[in-house]
Amino acid sequence: MSSLKSEATEAGTDERSVTRLIRGMPASDGAGVRLNRVIGQPALSELDPFLLLDEFRSDNPGDYIAGFPEHPHRGFETVTYLIAGRMRHADNKGHQGLLSPGSVQWMTAGRGIVHSEMPEQENGLLQGFQLWVNLPARSKMTAPRYQEIEPSEIPEATLANGARARIIAGSFEGRTGPIDAAATAPLYLDLILPQASEVRVPMPAGHAAFAYVFEGSAEIGGDARSVPQGSLAVLGPGSRLTVRADKGPARLLVVAGKPIEEPVARYGPFVMNTQDEIRQAVRDFQAGLF
Ligand code: CO
Repeated sequence: MSSLKSEATEAGTDERSVTRLIRGMPASDGAGVRLNRVIGQPALSELDPFLLLDEFRSDNPGDYIAGFPEHPHRGFETVTYLIAGRMRHADNKGHQGLLSPGSVQWMTAGRGIVHSEMPEQENGLLQGFQLWVNLPARSKMTAPRYQEIEPSEIPEATLANGARARIIAGSFEGRTGPIDAAATAPLYLDLILPQASEVRVPMPAGHAAFAYVFEGSAEIGGDARSVPQGSLAVLGPGSRLTVRADKGPARLLVVAGKPIEEPVARYGPFVMNTQDEIRQAVRDFQAGLF
């Protein structure tokens, strides 16, 4: 494909197009949870402000039962969106909660938290996503904060063609999601498309954005790129995205956020701006200061 031609197309329309297609990579994290790592792997190490996207989806307890026992975070936000199953969350400050299907936990780790995320089921399907959203330098050492959203608190828009959108963050069809994340002003939609439906999503033009198809396949962007289940489409600039489900029903996440444009120093569960700050995070954690 000619890059000159695609640039000309972008200049002539406000429609976002797919610039890259990324296949998720099988990975294991926590105490041995098998997952599909989509952002945060060699093919896509980050998409500023997004540092990681994991999909977990299994009805084999051996893939998830060990969960994510106690581990620290500093300098960013972890966002868990549960589709099926139940997860118990607990931290070292005495905070805990249970995520049920359709709920969201938006955790601002800030200056530091030690928490566990454990499946609260011994069998059946466990399915969901964890997204890591970076924080700018001025917010990295903020106090930890939770936004725990019950399924009923997530607005849902139903279009005339039967397509549905769950609006977790940002706005769509006159409804605004419950999440407050000022630094990155995110849009986070779960789109559920019947066959032969099309949805147009307005999005802030300067935001980094992606679509991740997790059921069926969808045609995405100005050139209607076919994106199969388990693939992430990185989106180019523009103020509108068109998604279609031609071959059958489809379900996908559409996510956008304002880039932070700062240096990223990353070491496991710590994401800071400099290596010195990473060393400080390790020292603080080892000294029990989280
Ligand atoms: Co965690």
